[in-house]
Amino acid sequence: MYTSVVRLQNVFGFFTTVAFVVAAFIAASDFLTERAPIVRTLKTTSVQVVRGRPHYYSSKKEEYAVINFSLDADLSSLFTWNTKQVFVYVTAEWPAADHAKTNATNEAVIWDTIITSPSADHLANIGPVAMKKLRKSAGGKSIDPNRGKLSLKNQRHKYKITHPSGKLAMTDNVTLRLHYNVQPWVGLLTWDQDVDYGYWKALKNGVSKRFKLPAIKEKKPASAGAR
Ligand SMILES: *[C@@H]1O[C@H](CO)[C@@H](O)[C@H](O)[C@H]1NC(C)=O
Ligand SMILES: *[C@@H]1O[C@H](CO)[C@@H](O)[C@H](O)[C@H]1NC(C)=O
Ligand SMILES: *[C@@H]1O[C@H](CO)[C@@H](O)[C@H](O)[C@H]1NC(C)=O
Repeated sequence: MYTSVVRLQNVFGFFTTVAFVVAAFIAASDFLTERAPIVRTLKTTSVQVVRGRPHYYSSKKEEYAVINFSLDADLSSLFTWNTKQVFVYVTAEWPAADHAKTNATNEAVIWDTIITSPSADHLANIGPVAMKKLRKSAGGKSIDPNRGKLSLKNQRHKYKITHPSGKLAMTDNVTLRLHYNVQPWVGLLTWDQDVDYGYWKALKNGVSKRFKLPAIKEKKPASAGAR
C-alpha cells in the first residue's frame, strides 16, 4: 500500500539519483579536458641563511633560510568550467641526512597562493558591485585565458625555512619545486603529477636547478653596545 511517505521517499530517491549521475558526469568530464601545465622559469634570485628567531613565538635561536625567487608558469589549462580554485605553492626540497639509506627528503613550503576561477570570484565577495559584475559576466562569457598565468620576478618568500636540527647553512642539493592542487566544484581534489595520465600531462619543468644554501649571514647589531 502506498502512503504519501513512501511516495515522497521515491521522489526524493529519484532526485538524488539524478543529481548523483549529473555530478558524476561533471567530474568525469575533467578527465576529457587536457591539462598541460608548464613552468618556463623557476629559479632563486637570492638565498640567505640567518641565525635568529624565525618567528615571533620562537623560543630559541636557530638557522633559517630566506629565499627570493622568480617564477614564470602557465597553469591556465587547469581552469575548466568545473574548476573552483587552484592552490599553487613552491617548496624547497633537499635530501635528508640519511638520504642514502632511506631516500628521505626534507620539504618546506616557501610561498603559496590561491587562484580562483573567474566564476568563483563573484561568489567570494557579495555586494552591489559584485552583483553588477555577476550580471555582466553572465552574458555567456568563457573562461579568462589569462587566469593561471604566473609571472613573478624576485618574489619574496612568504615562509622561512627551518629544520628541526636548527642547522641549515651550507646545505647542498636544494631545489625549488612548483606544486598545484586543483579544487573542482564537483569531484575530487587533484595534485600535480610526475607522469602523464591520459589527457593530464605531468607538470613540465617544475623543478629548479640545484643550489647550495650559503653560510650564515651575520646580522649587524642594531646599535653599538646594545646587548
Ligand atoms: C631509493 O631510490 C632508489 C631509486 O629510486 C631505489 O633504487 C632504492 O631502492 C630506494 N631505496 C629505498 C631504501 O627506498
Ligand atoms: C626579496 O624580494 C623583496 C620583494 O621583491 C625585496 O624587497 C628584497 O630586497 C629582496 N631581497 C633580496 C636579498 O634581494
Ligand atoms: C649532491 O648531488 C650530487 C649529485 O647527485 C652528489 O654527488 C653529491 O654528493 C650531493 N651532495 C650532498 C651533500 O648530498
